[in-house]
Order: sequence, then C-alpha cells, then structure tokens
Amino acid sequence: MAAVIISLLLLFFFSRSPSLSTVDPDPPGARRLPDIIIIGVRKGGTRALIEMLNLHSDVVAAPSELHFFDWDSHYLRGEDWYVSQMPLARPGQLTVEKTPAYFTSAHVPERIRRMIPDARLLLIVREPTERLLSDYTQVYHNRLEKHKLQQTLETLLMHHGELDLHYKALNRSLYHVHMRRWLHVFPRSHIHLVDGDALIRNPLPEMKKVEEFLHLEPQINASNFYFNQTKGFFCLRDRRRERCLHGSKGRTHPRLAPELLRKLHDFFHEPNQEFFQLVGRTFDWK
Ligand code: A3P
Repeated sequence: MAAVIISLLLLFFFSRSPSLSTVDPDPPGARRLPDIIIIGVRKGGTRALIEMLNLHSDVVAAPSELHFFDWDSHYLRGEDWYVSQMPLARPGQLTVEKTPAYFTSAHVPERIRRMIPDARLLLIVREPTERLLSDYTQVYHNRLEKHKLQQTLETLLMHHGELDLHYKALNRSLYHVHMRRWLHVFPRSHIHLVDGDALIRNPLPEMKKVEEFLHLEPQINASNFYFNQTKGFFCLRDRRRERCLHGSKGRTHPRLAPELLRKLHDFFHEPNQEFFQLVGRTFDWK
C-alpha cells in the first residue's frame, strides 16, 4: 500500500514539475538569414569546406545548395522563403549556406549586399587548370547519368586552334573577372579566401584560418580529420560519427596532352597575377 502511495506521489510530482517534464534541455532555435555564405568557386572544394565548418558547434549549415540569389525563380520568392530554407539555429550559432554558382553570377553580389550587408563571405579557390579539369569531369558524369552524348575536353577547349574563352569551365577559372565584381560591392575584409589545394592536402590549418575570420571560438582540431587511404582524401570525424565526402567528390580527372596542359598553364598565368593583385595575396599555382 505504502509503495502504491509513493508511486502515485512521484507520478504527481513528475507530471507537474516544469523543470523535469516540460523544459527542453536543448531549445530548437530559429531560422535566420545566413551569417556566412560560401560563394564558390564551383569545384573548389565547397562541399568539403561547409562540412568541415559544420564540425564547429557554433555553426549550422543549410543542407543543400539553395540557388537563392542566382535563380530568379527562387529570388522572387523573397526573403521569407529564403529564411524558411535555413536550418534551426540556437542563439549565438552562425548559419551558413553554400551555392558555388554565386561567384560567377552577375547580379548576386548586389543582391546579397542588399539583403545581408554584413554577410561574411567565403571563397575557396583552386589552381585554375585543376579546377577546370574537375569542372569538365563533373559535367561528364552528369551527362553520363542522363545518357547524353559526350564531347572530349580537347573539343570543348579549342576553337579554330585557340582556347575558347566561351567554354564555361574555362571562364569560371578566370577568377579575377568574377572577383572584380564582388569587390565593387563588398569590402575585401568581408571576403575570406580559402586555399582549396591546401585544404585537400591538410585541412586543419585552412580551417583554423576560417575560424579566426569568423571570430569563432577555436574548436576544430586534428582529431576532426583522418586520412582515408582508399578515398585518397581526408575524411571527417566528430562526436557522432566518421564520414568521407560523397563519391562524387575526389574523382579522377582526364589526362590532357602535355602541350595542351602547358597551353592552359601559360594561358592562366596573367589572369592569375591579376587575381593575386586584386586580392592582395598569392597562391602556389603553376
Ligand atoms: P574533384 O572531385 O575533381 O577531385 P566542390 O565540393 O566545390 O564541388 O569541390 C569538389 C572538390 O573538392 C573535389 O574535386 C575534391 O578535389 C575537393 N576536395 C577537397 N577536400 C576534399 C575531401 N576531404 N574529400 C573529397 N574531396 C575533397
């Protein structure tokens, strides 16, 4: 009898006590405009960057590419729609989204400035010829999946014996052209450049610089990364799990004839110098 009374008293107490039964220990937070936008560059390592940033407990990442500022059909849905696509963030957490097409889209810098003037922008760049090869490889695989006809990289690159500047994958590697547009709209101090080649070789130093730029408490550390021999890339580890990036990241690139490769390296030399001048730093590119 005494046991029954005690049980009933306990049940009464627990069902009424707000501190024990109704308060969520981990409030879900709210959806907000992003504080950080990874603006590109396509095939620079944008997925790796957002996944690595998401290791930080003060960062929450939008799960997919939103194409809000570059696709009119999305942009016209307005700010509320954009916010509704964001993950829940607790107070003090920063929200990040990535859409690599932003870097090369004409209207995007101005649109972002109008909606999020304080946005902190991350741009991850990679040696331009390597990025071009990666870009071609991505399109090749997309076409393969859709059973579309393929063109060789040589065919796409050359027009009447000269490099074809209209070839999109080539144009996207002309970083100075696109960067100039961003710098017309955002101060240089709002844009942090991540070295995509360095991020592949050793992610931690690049991620420490990102933490610093974003004024995040230093948290990402060596235990967050381990090299996976089979994949040939660093993979990620946090309290919950270990994971490598999707199989579409880290593909083998086509081999170009040495003279075409040299032509590309020569071609990018001047544009690279202009880019270095524009951003006030150099990269270890061929
Ligand atoms: P490749 O697949 O051509 O090697 P994005 O995410 O912007 O599309 O960039 C994809 C590129 O990220 C890959 O290009 C790969 O080289 C690079 N990358 C950087 N770090 C990586 C990692 N830890 N795992 C897999 N790919 C990574």
